[in-house]
Amino acid sequence: MLVPLLTLLLSPILQAAADGIQQIPLDFNVVEDNRFDQWKDLSEQVQGRLYGAYPFAQACFNGQFNSAACKFIQVNYLNERYINTNWETCQTTGQQCLLDYTNPSNPKPASAPNQCLLGSIPNTYVDVRRPEDVAAAFKFSKAFGIPLIVKNTGHDYKGRSSAPHALGLWTHNLKDISYNPSFVPEGCTKASPGVTMGAGVQWGEAYPFAEAHSITLVGGTFPGGGHGALTNTMGMGVDRVLEYKVVTPDGKFRTVNACQNTDLFYALRGGGGGTFGVVLESTVLASPRVTLQVVVVEWAKPNAALTKSLWKILIDNGLTWASQGYGGFVAGESAVYITPILNPTESNATMKPLIEFGEQLVKDGVEGTEFLVGEFPSWGTFYDAIIKDAPADLGVSLALASRLIPKANFQTSSSRSELLDALMESFSLSPGLRFLISPPTSYPGDGTTSVTDAWRDSIYHITLVSLWNWNATVAEKKSKYELSSKAIQPLRDITPDAAYVNEADVYEPNHEVAFWGTHYPELLKLKKKYDPDQLLDCWQCVGWNPKSELFSCYL
Ligand SMILES: Cc1cc2nc3c(=O)[nH]c(=O)nc-3n(C[C@H](O)[C@H](O)[C@H](O)COP(=O)(O)OP(=O)(O)OC[C@H]3O[C@@H](n4cnc5c(N)ncnc54)[C@H](O)[C@@H]3O)c2cc1C
Ligand SMILES: *[C@@H]1O[C@H](CO)[C@@H](O)[C@H](O)[C@H]1NC(C)=O
Ligand SMILES: *[C@@H]1O[C@H](CO)[C@@H](O)[C@H](O)[C@H]1NC(C)=O
Repeated sequence: MLVPLLTLLLSPILQAAADGIQQIPLDFNVVEDNRFDQWKDLSEQVQGRLYGAYPFAQACFNGQFNSAACKFIQVNYLNERYINTNWETCQTTGQQCLLDYTNPSNPKPASAPNQCLLGSIPNTYVDVRRPEDVAAAFKFSKAFGIPLIVKNTGHDYKGRSSAPHALGLWTHNLKDISYNPSFVPEGCTKASPGVTMGAGVQWGEAYPFAEAHSITLVGGTFPGGGHGALTNTMGMGVDRVLEYKVVTPDGKFRTVNACQNTDLFYALRGGGGGTFGVVLESTVLASPRVTLQVVVVEWAKPNAALTKSLWKILIDNGLTWASQGYGGFVAGESAVYITPILNPTESNATMKPLIEFGEQLVKDGVEGTEFLVGEFPSWGTFYDAIIKDAPADLGVSLALASRLIPKANFQTSSSRSELLDALMESFSLSPGLRFLISPPTSYPGDGTTSVTDAWRDSIYHITLVSLWNWNATVAEKKSKYELSSKAIQPLRDITPDAAYVNEADVYEPNHEVAFWGTHYPELLKLKKKYDPDQLLDCWQCVGWNPKSELFSCYL
């Protein structure tokens, strides 16, 4: 049962949020659920790190729009260090605390009569620093029926890291990072180079660390999760995990790897969101530096004919380039391809059609043309030059949809032209369509991960979005979700059910199969084993309860 737990003290903000979520000390005088003593107890067990939460943009409301604290928020509103404010909103009630993402210095959203409301943000958070903090929260949740939600940075596109009236477990401050050239997972014998990171380390922090140690870490292309432009040859994030440290719902702190707690190792390598336990730390494989051959082609103004001729080249060469290690990302007006396994001569030869396309753009003087063929000595130098400042969709309210596109669609000239037509149709409904060339096409894996096997048979991960602004009505938001589903449908029509769990349609049909394929039954068994009381739950997660009040903000 959900009850209003606390009234938050709207105390003046002493400092702008330095690290995402904002926190204020809980005032126990305002606890409303007459469990005053129990909350105090919990607070003591977590060494006082139990906080009331408030929305990212709160400092801008109540006539404070020109304050220094609000200026900080305006400047950082779209910065991917911070939070996806989309899911601070309760989409069913419209309760929110948003700024205008198209122009964060527009005072209107923060002006009367608009108020800053908690929306779908949990009332209370534990700022997790130790396994004991998580164990105490599990015990509290079980004893009093208070639902839990696990949040790290809060970038989730599907709202799985927020829920109203829950107790949040916030792992974002676990920022330790270290490199061990001969890491041996506990209970194993074989050593590999490994980087151990607290759950709160973001790729934007880990990549410079790797660069400084002359190693390669494989994570998101953009500073997120599991797939990136190196995944084709070097595997997904989950492929490269050597060990997790996790607190399971029974309160036990477990070391999980290929030699102990192996069933949990399998479940955690692909079965997430917050489903099987709270991860405090992971150690991931570090590889030597890689030299990258890079081709970048870009122009400024939308031009569907040009887009179609670019995409035709990419699709016609899809199978070949995948087998030559290429990964990258593509939009309507750009393509970035990289490979760590070819030399410049080989790359120039196989990329000839794309290079000629770029040369033609230059020759035709197409506005805003960028064309680059070159070599980078490492992922870090490439990342800094090409990706770091590329806009990513953070702080924007949006409905995402995606699809994995398997090799079969690239096999014959008729299947290729069918794919091109489907992509152009999707693009016409969603000009933000991107190809992430980030499946592990050339990386077989070790057979002990739980992501859908469709990943390894795919060439593209296609994403698209529909956006709305701060003043959208509930009906408008609903129509944007429908638009994204409709826009991805031409691709659904010609592919098997397969999508990336972290970047999927919130209302993904047949989601168990789409995210986990044949692994779902085993994952469900493990969910029941490790979380028999369903202390953890999230939207479309393994073994979820769709009727849970945790999901009252979903449309
Ligand atoms: C701008 C942007 C770019 C992106 N680019 C990429 C990309 O290139 N490649 C890619 O693979 N993905 C990408 N993503 C998606 C990304 O993988 C996810 O959004 C990311 O994993 C979210 O991480 P987070 O720490 O913010 O998670 P949160 O939103 O905090 O949580 C996500 C889920 O994980 C659970 N969770 C969080 N912390 C823990 C924990 N410590 N233990 C157990 N469960 C936990 C939560 O309960 C929730 O279910 C991108 C997302 C954004 C917003
Ligand atoms: C590859 O092509 C680029 C662009 O045409 C050129 O500058 C470079 O010298 C070529 N490299 C080799 C090794 O052929
Ligand atoms: C919503 O806000 C945007 C930007 O602030 C504004 O341009 C638009 O007119 C508003 N729409 C409505 C219906 O008020």
